[in-house]
Amino acid sequence: MNLQEEILELKKEKDVVILAHNYQIPQVQDIADFVGDSLGLARQAAKTSHKTILFCGVHFMAETAAIVSPEKKVLIPDLEAGCSLSDSITVNDLKNWKKQHPDAIAVGYVNTTAEIKAELDYCCTSSNAVNVVKAIPEDKEILFLPDMFLGSFVSKMTGRKNMYIWAGECHVHAGIKPEDVTQKLDSMTNAEFVIHPECSCTTPMLYDVAAGNYKGRQVQILSTEGMMNHVSKSQSNQFVVATETGILYRMRKQNPEKTFVAASDKAECQYMKMITLQKVFDSLSEDKYEVKVPKQTADKARLAIERMLAIS
Ligand code: 13P
Ligand code: SF4
Repeated sequence: MNLQEEILELKKEKDVVILAHNYQIPQVQDIADFVGDSLGLARQAAKTSHKTILFCGVHFMAETAAIVSPEKKVLIPDLEAGCSLSDSITVNDLKNWKKQHPDAIAVGYVNTTAEIKAELDYCCTSSNAVNVVKAIPEDKEILFLPDMFLGSFVSKMTGRKNMYIWAGECHVHAGIKPEDVTQKLDSMTNAEFVIHPECSCTTPMLYDVAAGNYKGRQVQILSTEGMMNHVSKSQSNQFVVATETGILYRMRKQNPEKTFVAASDKAECQYMKMITLQKVFDSLSEDKYEVKVPKQTADKARLAIERMLAIS
């Protein structure tokens, strides 16, 4: 039996569901029961009937799974799989910020630690951030954290003026520069452009997007699963994709007749890539590494996450 077959056998024997994010390496995506975006995976974690959830993604995602499914065992194959965006705000930063705006509603991206989520009113992901903000009464101030590019995107899409945005960023998406994008778009004149709202080039492009085009072509600002749905439905055959490059594997696999090119080949998340097939096998066979969230933190954080799950 090869490693892949051994994993599939062990997962069945131990009643484990494997959830993998769209940025995982191809071999890991291939052994997963579900591959998706942060929202989709949190939903799968909340409804699974399996005893154990093996999360192939980064630490905050596994914590979210542990919060929504407190009776399950949640494993991550590498505890070092962190996230630069989630590291861009501490719980003390948030407490101090809330003190400065005591009546504000705190909305945090799912890319935050469980401790931060316990201080939030609402949690959101890139696929529902606009709708979460729309659900908050207009006279309420909003503290939006930690991603400044997603925050600017949401504020532009909702027209919300009373929204304060934390100046955090994801180094992978912030590293996709408008020059990279322009070069790729110039070399593929018929391609549609799909872009993740965490990208730094999102903000300047919003004005063009609002006008329905960018350099005379279609532009879609979407979460990773939003991208997956869009590229399969679109009439276009070519796409320039501005997000972490791991998603291209799934796009190509599900749409073999279409062409996908990364806006930047350097857009690789080293944290997502820490999860290898060997580590998945070790995790399954040795029940490591268990991700636990203290009950008090989990109970508080669950409220914000449940609000996120209720809004699509
Ligand atoms: P989504 O998959 O929710 O769009 O998030 C992207 C991301 O950067 C997760 O770390
Ligand atoms: Fe975090 Fe960025 Fe990696 Fe996503 S791509 S896990 S936001 S560092």
